[in-house]
Amino acid sequence: MGRAVVPEDGAGAGDRGAVPEDAVGAVTRQVLDGLRATGDDRLRELLTALVRHLHGFARETRLTQGEWERAIGFLTATGQACTDTRQEFVMLSDVLGLSMLVETLHEHGAPGATESTVLGPFHMTASPPRALGATIDLVGGGEPCVVSGRIRSADGTPLPGAVLDVWQADGHGFYDVQRPDVQPPGNGRGLFTADGEGRFRFRTCVPSAYPVPTDGPVGALLHATGRHPYRPPHIHFIATAEGHAPLTTHIFVAGGAYLDSDVVYAVKDSLVRDFTPTDDPSLAREYGVANPFRHARFDLVLEREAGEGT
Ligand code: BEZ
Ligand code: FE
Repeated sequence: MGRAVVPEDGAGAGDRGAVPEDAVGAVTRQVLDGLRATGDDRLRELLTALVRHLHGFARETRLTQGEWERAIGFLTATGQACTDTRQEFVMLSDVLGLSMLVETLHEHGAPGATESTVLGPFHMTASPPRALGATIDLVGGGEPCVVSGRIRSADGTPLPGAVLDVWQADGHGFYDVQRPDVQPPGNGRGLFTADGEGRFRFRTCVPSAYPVPTDGPVGALLHATGRHPYRPPHIHFIATAEGHAPLTTHIFVAGGAYLDSDVVYAVKDSLVRDFTPTDDPSLAREYGVANPFRHARFDLVLEREAGEGT
């Protein structure tokens, strides 16, 4: 015989032997009643939905005391794994697809606007301002690469002075904050200001695929669910310009590993770029990069902020 499921609002009594269904529903109703006086409308809405879904989850799965204790232990360990340079809760949200869902929910989708994707946990440190054309690869050793493009508004107008915050893992797949003994602070990071025509350019190394950190609770979760921990090769960007909504996005290396199974579900086809092999000594000289090198082009199109010239 199937198990009776109490409706979301906790109403009704099912046939569940020793468990008084009314009592189960009464708990949910009491908690929901207790939220009615919440002064902030949005907070009340969020908490009410959270309680309904959490209680519904416990009812649907017949959550046991032991399972609940394990879950509390897992969340406690997740918090304890967080430091100034590691954000295990962001990673948990990422690997459960919640970060990508929230990001996608709020994308306005103006025609032609560049798509957004997740922020990730490694943007916790300020990127150093750098001159256009400078390198963000302070260590070297990877495959040299130039990234260039233009930042425009959705109507095509270039955005001089737009600011581009860039960060990426090194050629071995680690961020500066993960290996402070090997990488100087700010390696793989740069804050660039677009020129009078909205153009930008910087040098770096071709990013490689890398695993998200697996030595904590999120790694244990991935292991328990038989999932691999890898992200495809990518570079992160946040573009900001006056009167425009900030854009958080990546570019992904075409042909890179794990493009079809990113552990944080962040790949969008429109963000995949060719990192074109280029053998051109005079262009290499102009860009200040070793020849041959790879060149990725990325034009960013920002949406106007609501109410700004629309
Ligand atoms: C990252 O791309 O930096 C990242 C995103 C989500 C989880 C871990 C790392
Ligand atoms: Fe990353």
